[in-house]
Amino acid sequence: PVLYVLNGPNLNLLGEREPEIYGRDTLADVQKLCENAADGARIVFRQSNHEGQLVDWIQEARKEASALIINPAAYTHTSVALLDALKTLSIPVIECHLSNPAAREAFRHHSYVSLAATGVIAGLGVQGYELAVKAALNLIRSA
Ligand code: DQA
Repeated sequence: PVLYVLNGPNLNLLGEREPEIYGRDTLADVQKLCENAADGARIVFRQSNHEGQLVDWIQEARKEASALIINPAAYTHTSVALLDALKTLSIPVIECHLSNPAAREAFRHHSYVSLAATGVIAGLGVQGYELAVKAALNLIRSA
């Protein structure tokens, strides 16, 4: 199976960006965690600061992915375009956040993406991605 792991804006700066919230691991470290958890599945791991690029990748996932994991970062709270793209998928979608947005500023409490998510993992740092990969594989196997 092919698992897409998509990352939104500013996550290229993971490790340097507000480390007290997001930790010291880099996005390259997160990619390795995902690959180590993949258990033979192929991980397509990408990051973009651009909403339209993320939409294009979600549309690409329609053709080849068995599950999609997404940390939409700030677009979580703003993007109807990402929601609409995710709604076209018929595979498991896992929304993943390093921090727990529900415990932060009020503007982070609403997620458009959650409306199209099979499940959400938040507040567990980089290990959330590892858990998301494992959950995605379980969902694929039990489908
Ligand atoms: C985030 C939470 C979002 O509110 C924020 O805009 C991010 C990262 C997280 O992983 O905790 O950029 O998605």
